[in-house]
Amino acid sequence: MTSVQDSSATDSAATLRAAMVDELRTTGDAIKTGQVAAAVGRVPRHLFAPDEPLEAVYAANKALVIKRDGNGAALSSLSAAHIQAVMLEQAELEPGMRVLEVGSGGYNAALIQEMVGDGGSVTSVDIDQEIVSRARACLDAAGYRNVEVVAADAEAGVPEKAPYDRIIVTAGAWDIPPAWQEQLTNGGRLVVPLRLRGLTRSIAFDRVDEDGDVGLVSRSYRLCGFVPMQGIGTFRERLVPITDEVVLRVDDPSQEFDVEGLRDALATPRLERWSGAAFDLPDELEFFLVTNLAQVAHLHVDETQVQNGRFAPSAARGVPTLVSGGSFAYRTKRPNEKTGGFESGVVAHGPDADRVAEHYVELLRRWASDHRRSGAAHIRYVPKAAGTPAPSVGLVPKRHGAVAVRWP
Ligand SMILES: C[S@@+](CC[C@H](N)C(=O)[O-])C[C@H]1O[C@@H](n2cnc3c(N)ncnc32)[C@H](O)[C@@H]1O
Repeated sequence: MTSVQDSSATDSAATLRAAMVDELRTTGDAIKTGQVAAAVGRVPRHLFAPDEPLEAVYAANKALVIKRDGNGAALSSLSAAHIQAVMLEQAELEPGMRVLEVGSGGYNAALIQEMVGDGGSVTSVDIDQEIVSRARACLDAAGYRNVEVVAADAEAGVPEKAPYDRIIVTAGAWDIPPAWQEQLTNGGRLVVPLRLRGLTRSIAFDRVDEDGDVGLVSRSYRLCGFVPMQGIGTFRERLVPITDEVVLRVDDPSQEFDVEGLRDALATPRLERWSGAAFDLPDELEFFLVTNLAQVAHLHVDETQVQNGRFAPSAARGVPTLVSGGSFAYRTKRPNEKTGGFESGVVAHGPDADRVAEHYVELLRRWASDHRRSGAAHIRYVPKAAGTPAPSVGLVPKRHGAVAVRWP
């Protein structure tokens, strides 16, 4: 029996849900189509996080942690509605489609089920049996019994239900396992939060079959953050300490560093170069930089290093850094008095400071003059033919292939 309390909670949830849809449509730049708006408006998100306050469940930008590991790191979460809506828009789901969701929780699968309708099918796979059981219970409680939830490492996909028109990955991936491409229909789409040189973007790839070769070609990409993939596809970044307060974060396992030389460089005076170009769209600029610097690492310094004037503030937040022998250069900014806003520039240290600063500043200028807009990059995933390609400008080697990024 529904109590007065229950029905008023249902009413509050419906009001908050309508407000969330509105926000995702207007200010959030997430919902663009009526189909996604209708799905988010229909699925009772609070039934997938029953112990959380309604205000938290229906906050457009809030992810709710469902499970943590022994060190407190999130293993599973109900992702923020904002990124879920963004990815559903990227997926361009249609009624009747067959969809695989990697990473379960129930809510996103229910949204997908709403969009593909009774003629479509939704399979959701999670590596964690506890999450699978929880998702099953939430889906049943919300009335989505036809969504199938499977316990498995998604590295192998779910071949029993393949092929899929869409695969939507909701955990942070470092690579694209061959099974995901193989289990897509020709022309099918994979939406995946893919990590490239320390940055993660949700990339919508279409499968293209050309002359017997299968490849993936990007249609769009958006900023995102996800809990990391577990199982066979797990990836651990490398931390290279230069001092106790200065660390490099690196993806490429083969990249070597002259740690002593870099430590000496810290003691050399800082060289500044200014680009004369505007600093804006920082997320897009970062993506341009990491895909155009072959020897890139992310510099992270302790806040005290900024306070004592040894580093620019960007280094405390983490910044793409060009490392060459015992020299390095990273991006900074300063107010632009003439035009308003900011001008981008570079800070460099070490015996080769001039050269690395010049190279970096030239990239800042090139981005500002030729590429400064959202979504400019073309991304291709090329399965590995033979051998491992060396990292180079625009080419990021992975285990099963390589990601080629071109800025037209
Ligand atoms: C952000 S949560 C998924 C959220 C979910 N889609 C929702 O609607 O709330 C990411 C999930 O990916 C799962 N996961 C991580 N690695 C996996 C793997 N190799 N195979 C399948 N699932 C995996 C985690 O257990 C976690 O539950």
